[in-house]
Amino acid sequence: MAKIKKRSWAEPFKIKVVEPLKITTREYRENAIQEAGYNTFLLHSEDVYIDLLTDSGTNAMSDNQWAGMMLGDEAYAGSKNYYNLEEKMQQYYGYKYLVPAHQGRGAEHMISQVLIRPGMYVPGNMYFTTTRLHQELAGGTFVDVIIDEAHDPQNQHPFKGNVDLQKLEDLIKKVGADKIPYLSIAGTVNMAGGQPFSMENLKQTYDLCKKHGIRIIFDATRAVENAYFIKVREKGYEDKTIAEILKEMCSYTDGATVSAKKDLYVNIGGFLATNEYEVFEETRNIVVVYEGLHTYGGIAGRDMEAMARGIEEMVEYDQVRARIGQVEYVGENLLKHGIPIVEPVGGHAIFLDAKKFYPHIQQVDFPAQTLAAEIYIDSGVRSMERGIVSAGRNKETGDHYYPKLELVRLTFPRRVYTQAHCDVMIESIVDTFENRDKVKGLKMVYEPKYLRFFQARFERL
Ligand code: F0G
Repeated sequence: MAKIKKRSWAEPFKIKVVEPLKITTREYRENAIQEAGYNTFLLHSEDVYIDLLTDSGTNAMSDNQWAGMMLGDEAYAGSKNYYNLEEKMQQYYGYKYLVPAHQGRGAEHMISQVLIRPGMYVPGNMYFTTTRLHQELAGGTFVDVIIDEAHDPQNQHPFKGNVDLQKLEDLIKKVGADKIPYLSIAGTVNMAGGQPFSMENLKQTYDLCKKHGIRIIFDATRAVENAYFIKVREKGYEDKTIAEILKEMCSYTDGATVSAKKDLYVNIGGFLATNEYEVFEETRNIVVVYEGLHTYGGIAGRDMEAMARGIEEMVEYDQVRARIGQVEYVGENLLKHGIPIVEPVGGHAIFLDAKKFYPHIQQVDFPAQTLAAEIYIDSGVRSMERGIVSAGRNKETGDHYYPKLELVRLTFPRRVYTQAHCDVMIESIVDTFENRDKVKGLKMVYEPKYLRFFQARFERL
């Protein structure tokens, strides 16, 4: 027998409960997507075979998390699960104060209302939809300070989530540090393709911000995935644990907003964390207006317990390795078949480059929206547009934003699908690519006012 050179990895868990899936025909799916206005957000989840719409809240919890659910203390005030969550947050993220929120955007809303005043600027390493909207609703203007490499889908930079220090300095010079309440930095930058920042870059960003008295608020939604990339890509971190790297990252920031629906392996929840007592005081005042009492923030006690237990699981190296390993498996196979994707493969998702996939479809005819619909029709795999529809409109000119990246995101729920599911995804995308010439774009026939990608409707051109 030939000697096996490379040993494969596999998941550090086995399946205990299964959820049956409906298998549908192509004709059925043609009909379903038309009824959904060619928007995968408007499909019934029942009609989806493999759901790669998001990794948000779609995780499989462990038996330990489910056991914790039975220990939910549903008291209105002072739930013991809140104190467990506070303890784990302090232990693993290292911030002083915790304010729970129903999910990430609840925390973003609070931090924006507390720190941003009309006329202020909030620099960030690329925008995220809800984060930027809350900054704008508070009167702020988002300024993208990510490195240029992030906007180039084929650039192989290992840390495309890095902040461009020159862009940040230019902004400080232009508007003045007092007009910048904080810099918002995200781990494995979602809209850039799940690309991490390096510890070195974070440190330099922190030093520059400190020099000017500007805070850093960490969107730590996928901080653990960022920590994994630092461990495997950045010199000096190969022997550190994920927990050590996470804590070091947080130590160069002043606070965080977290959507627990990602890293923490839960289905709902979020929080805001800060080291500043004044910020804590103010958010604790507004949390009762928008979310719920400061010891539950819109989540049930049992869900806070699942979050607390999820924090301990998320820092296990084998868990995050299997999670990112699955994304890499699909990415590498798609590359072998010549499918245009964002490279290097990111942490939580594969991003198909719709401009390259459908070079004959103009950006105004929504190539990424079209591609997501075609993949669904082919196999029942549900993905999401991350291009011109997601980018929305410029509130001054009323025109679409035309983002450089016109992508379809295949997002991987944690601990949910098998490698055989991955093979089905790969084959379906390859077939869709082979049939690309026949496909035309879409026109938008209904456009909602906010975050239009969720509910917009389309028809075939
Ligand atoms: N920040 C990032 C980087 C996110 O990816 C998300 C959500 C949020 C904040 C908001 O958190 O959904 O709990 O309110 N991203 C989901 C996604 C929706 O599919 O990428 P939330």
